[in-house]
Amino acid sequence: MSTPSDTYIPEGADRTVLVTGAAGGLGRSFAIGFARRGYRVAVADIDANGAEETARLVKDTGAAAWHGAVDVTSGESTAAMAAAVAEFGAGRIEVLVNNAAIYGTVTRSALEDIDPAEWDRVMEVNLKGPWLVVRACSPHLPEGARIVNLSSATVYSGSENWLHYVASKGGVIALTRVMAKELGRRSITVNAIAPGFTLTEASYGLIDNAAEYGVERGALRRAGRPEDIVGAALFLAGPDSAYVTGQTLVVDGGRQFN
Ligand SMILES: NC(=O)c1ccc[n+]([C@@H]2O[C@H](COP(=O)([O-])OP(=O)(O)OC[C@H]3O[C@@H](n4cnc5c(N)ncnc54)[C@H](O)[C@@H]3O)[C@@H](O)[C@H]2O)c1
Repeated sequence: MSTPSDTYIPEGADRTVLVTGAAGGLGRSFAIGFARRGYRVAVADIDANGAEETARLVKDTGAAAWHGAVDVTSGESTAAMAAAVAEFGAGRIEVLVNNAAIYGTVTRSALEDIDPAEWDRVMEVNLKGPWLVVRACSPHLPEGARIVNLSSATVYSGSENWLHYVASKGGVIALTRVMAKELGRRSITVNAIAPGFTLTEASYGLIDNAAEYGVERGALRRAGRPEDIVGAALFLAGPDSAYVTGQTLVVDGGRQFN
């Protein structure tokens, strides 16, 4: 006979998560990871085909999926996405994972040589983007909603020859704190994850021998895998982190301590 205590209710039941930048890489891993916990998953990316493919993979897990194209630098585009996702989520977006960014294609060069146009574009996507997405989603976030922003452990290491990227991700930590204060009045938590170097397609394109890169500097002596980061996002979106807000969780196998 079944009793209430042996009926498993997945933590994502009747909750909708929106993952931006989910056409591949970490975003796709977040989408699938949340789907496996029973969430309805909305997948958005500037790469519409990749988003569609991620939505197909989400549906393969048995979860409901929505997909759409978005440019996180556009107020109109983010507003349209938020309205469509809210409709998919029966009026609510319980979890937002602000993952879209320019990362693997950002030129590595000394601070004197950074192209100002590239600086502006990195800030536009990586820093203004998360603000525009939160602004667009805000009317649809119920009390107790969760926001997870993607920063980077490069903020703590001061990764050289990448000033614009690192500064944009430092801005994400600052933005997370202010948003936590403002949205905390609605019992919404806002936290950031700062992944260390993690083996996504973009990372393989960035560094030769990516799987070995810097492993000797980490306590755990191995490269980060997307699923390592997914676990942190599930924690920050789930019931066990209700009193955690404005924080940045470094997930890098023990390379940086903060
Ligand atoms: N992989 C790592 O080692 C690592 C480490 C630290 C932080 N991060 C962060 O994690 C996130 C995911 O990284 P990834 O390795 O999967 O990289 P990725 O390049 O595969 O993912 C970024 C996604 O954002 C999308 N995107 C770019 N511009 C956009 C725009 N204007 N509007 C909407 N979508 C847009 C891209 O199409 C892409 O799918 C990024 O925020 C990155 O900065 C990654």
